[in-house]
Amino acid sequence: MNKQVFWIEGDGIGPEIWQAVRPVLDAALARTGAEELEWTELLAGEKALALTGELLPKTTLDALAGAEVAIKGPLGTPVGGGFRSLNVTLRQTLDLYACIRPVRWFEGTASPVLHPEKVNMVIFRENTEDVYAGIEYAAGSPEAVRLADFLRAEFHANVDREAAIGIKPMTEKGSKRLVRSAIRYALAHGLPSVTLVHKGNIMKFTEGGFRAWGYEVAREFGDAVIMETEATSRNSAGKVIIRDRIADAMFQEALLHPEQHSVLASPNLNGDYLSDALAAQVGGLGMAPGVNMSDSLAIFEATHGTAPTAAGKDTANPCSLLLSGAMMLEHMGFADASQVVENAVKNVIRDRTVTPDLAAGMEGARAVSCSEFGRLLLAKI
Ligand code: NAI
Repeated sequence: MNKQVFWIEGDGIGPEIWQAVRPVLDAALARTGAEELEWTELLAGEKALALTGELLPKTTLDALAGAEVAIKGPLGTPVGGGFRSLNVTLRQTLDLYACIRPVRWFEGTASPVLHPEKVNMVIFRENTEDVYAGIEYAAGSPEAVRLADFLRAEFHANVDREAAIGIKPMTEKGSKRLVRSAIRYALAHGLPSVTLVHKGNIMKFTEGGFRAWGYEVAREFGDAVIMETEATSRNSAGKVIIRDRIADAMFQEALLHPEQHSVLASPNLNGDYLSDALAAQVGGLGMAPGVNMSDSLAIFEATHGTAPTAAGKDTANPCSLLLSGAMMLEHMGFADASQVVENAVKNVIRDRTVTPDLAAGMEGARAVSCSEFGRLLLAKI
């Protein structure tokens, strides 16, 4: 893999979290004797608008289309026309079909549950299909009324003519490639299980399809995996256990027995809910890293938004972007440097010198600015 990293600063708190993050990533590489990265900035969001007159210039999309790795700060959603969302546009244009979010607890951070240390899961959320396809018609609109009439006349479906109607397309191809990447990840990282999370008891052909296609894909992996229904303590050693859970039950299990799950694979909407719920379980979105991937490109990103009210105040927590950067280093083959970054985060949090969002829930903590937090991280490296 080449060492070129395209980076997008992002809006709101983007510039300040980047100032704290980039020196830490570079220092971790230097500390482990790894090659330097070739950082190339791409414009998007407000900075792009100011410099080029466009929110998402074609040069940025073209560069990303040919890239392997990028990392971005949060991008604001423009209000009033234009793009629905820059993030959704990036995902759809570049076919970034898998949203991957590792969720684990850092000792010392406040959590609403008794045993946050038992949470250590990686969520694979399908990113391109499901109700996010954007096929939705307002109640009483000509489209919705016509669609209701069609469904009633042709399929004897009991759809109220006054209903708002949304369409939920899910394909075998879309479901299979997501589950395949989740199983590959579990195998590559020596993780014990992949849980397919769906609502197939109610939505038999979309969510139920996801479950069935998921199991079909799992069988492609032969002896490397074993289905939960066939697994015993003797025949499952060294294999990835494949199971499924209905989404509502999964939310319970995530609270009651989180240690029983390692990789979760889910359609878009369930995955959206799960990602934020699990992030909250271990201390909030400010700590949660993530990546959106196609088969050729990985865009690592801070999973929170632009935090407009905090922007420019040097109070933002840079951990989400930083831990996404650590994921990026691992993805690029710099596992040691990635570990150095994680250890620095652990150590600074253990010292209880943290940004105000973390300090608020931490007894005896000293709140420091974003830039000071960055300097403390560097000192640990
Ligand atoms: P937000 O994540 O920006 O803020 C929610 C709350 O969390 C606020 O109280 C904020 O101050 C706080 N917060 C977020 N990140 C923080 C950090 N690193 N350190 C400390 N506190 C932090 O969500 P909101 O307000 O819904 O969205 C603001 C803008 O961001 C919108 O334009 C939205 O579309 C965009 N957005 C972009 C995302 C992305 O680029 N991936 C993801 C989510 C929202």
